Amino acid sequence: MRKSVVAPLAAVLLASGIACYAQQIELVQNPAGRQTYSLNGPWQIIVDPYEAGYYDFHMHPQAGGGLGANRVPAGKGDKLELTFLPNTPTLQVPGDWNTQKPEFLWYEGTIWYKRAFDYAKKPGRRLFLWFGAANYEAIVFLNGHKLGEHRGGFTPFQFEVTNLVQDANNAVIVKVDDQRHADGIPTAMTDWWNYGGLTRDVKLIDVPDAFIEDYFVQLEKGSANRVAGWVRVNGGQKRERVTVRIPEAGASASADTDENGVARFAFDAKLESWSPERPKLYDVRVEAASDSVQERIGFRTIAASGQKILLNGRPIFLRGVSVHGEAPFRAGRVFSEADARVLLTWAKELGCNFVRLAHYPHDEAMTRLADEMGLLVWSEIPVYWAVQWENPAAYANAGQQLTEMITRDHNRASVIFWSMANETPLGDARTKFIGSLASQARELDPTRLITAATLPHYSDPATITIEDPLGKYLDVLGCNEYIGWYDGPPTKPDTIAFKTIYDKPLVMSELGAEAPYGRHGDEDTAWTEEFQANVYRHQIAMLKRIPFLQGMTPWILMDFRCPRRPLAGIQDYYNRKGLLSDRGEKKQAYFILRDFYRSLMPQE
Ligand code: GCU
Repeated sequence: MRKSVVAPLAAVLLASGIACYAQQIELVQNPAGRQTYSLNGPWQIIVDPYEAGYYDFHMHPQAGGGLGANRVPAGKGDKLELTFLPNTPTLQVPGDWNTQKPEFLWYEGTIWYKRAFDYAKKPGRRLFLWFGAANYEAIVFLNGHKLGEHRGGFTPFQFEVTNLVQDANNAVIVKVDDQRHADGIPTAMTDWWNYGGLTRDVKLIDVPDAFIEDYFVQLEKGSANRVAGWVRVNGGQKRERVTVRIPEAGASASADTDENGVARFAFDAKLESWSPERPKLYDVRVEAASDSVQERIGFRTIAASGQKILLNGRPIFLRGVSVHGEAPFRAGRVFSEADARVLLTWAKELGCNFVRLAHYPHDEAMTRLADEMGLLVWSEIPVYWAVQWENPAAYANAGQQLTEMITRDHNRASVIFWSMANETPLGDARTKFIGSLASQARELDPTRLITAATLPHYSDPATITIEDPLGKYLDVLGCNEYIGWYDGPPTKPDTIAFKTIYDKPLVMSELGAEAPYGRHGDEDTAWTEEFQANVYRHQIAMLKRIPFLQGMTPWILMDFRCPRRPLAGIQDYYNRKGLLSDRGEKKQAYFILRDFYRSLMPQE
């Protein structure tokens, strides 16, 4: 089983900041467009806080794989403990464990999952066991064999199981551990609920022996009518012919694969540009000798020009909002199109043309729906707050998550920004770490803009200057400021001016204040809707005065669960900076922002 090649390169990257194409990972592009067998549904579970199912009493990994070995009692005298008996309880997959059983709400540790299935594989086919995501560390076994491990709770991963699947009585066993670690990505301290488990779809992907593994079909950088990209065939003959077609545009191109199985192509096509107002998607067919896959892709150009952001060659102001992957109404990790549609519809109703999906890659349903509904997307990896900047393992982990995020969504028209980090402390090691990630991202995808959410820096008591050294690695600067909430009274924005040392656009990636829905008082009383609304009024007036501001994503669309927010009767372990409650109830600030965005909208 070939593991990703990121780790050994990490040290090189850290040293040289150069990335190369070889960093591809094995991930089947667009599983939804393939023949698949869903493994969603009830899975047996064993809660194992001491990881006794994996380690022996001296903390050595159990020789036979422990619970992963899938042993069953041999007979009545058998004292086997580590086994899934028929009466073992279950949890739903996809789904976090925290919101499925009250006793799991605060649980952080290991839970073992088991799913049995039958699958008659046909000759000339290959099988991949694919996970949409598992938070945080997953160790995967099939029929007693250890397939491998994955770290990072928000990106897809897979293992080839062609020679392991039997026609009947297969058993997938996954040890999922969501303990937080200082050397993790994210690190141990975050401001969101650490939802654990098999949080996204699990499926078997069934493809031909030689199959289209991945493809990148976008407009060539800076061109409105030249499509360029590549197709990678896995297992094909040398010089295999592939074809990319856009039937509706009557355009197509063919090319041969190279020694890496990669075919590069470029061709002219008369295409209607994708935009939030007109989210035009085209059917795109990718064909190879023994495989083909259909895709829906929009074509648009995105660029930074001086302090402007250009969508399809025209300046755009990004009317945005930040969104967590927290499900509306039921709480828990978003895992379905239904969840995504509620959140993105609320953003649209607010007058948004842009969403910041914070602070980790969201479910693929979000980005595919953003393509369809016409919302531009900021997508981010959880390099959040105080990461271990000098730890190569932390860098390798971040690099892997970055590669997985970009690989999954590099055909999404909606995604315009890859964000490398959020609110990280100044320092050379930090800047080098994130700077290297930025160059890695440019290698993987030269067509999108690179950004990060930085912290504000006062150059004098009344002036914030955008001058974070990280800025030189970025195309667009993001800045999180809470003037009027963490920083001074609601009126303070009236006294603040912004400057920048960069000839680059700024997006105010966070701003806001907190109030539970329905809590009222005068506008100087904290934790009331009136106070929150007052902060928004003063903030919007300040933002209008920033000439290089090209967008904003106030924190946040909806209240979300957070273990750092205990204030009784007010927060109750929710971050209440939502413009909407977790039940979609509109707070006063919602209308302030909506009316501002309406004032910016192009008049019909
Ligand atoms: C930070 C951080 C968010 C957090 C927010 C807050 O800026 O990026 O993750 O939730 O502030 O304090 O509410």
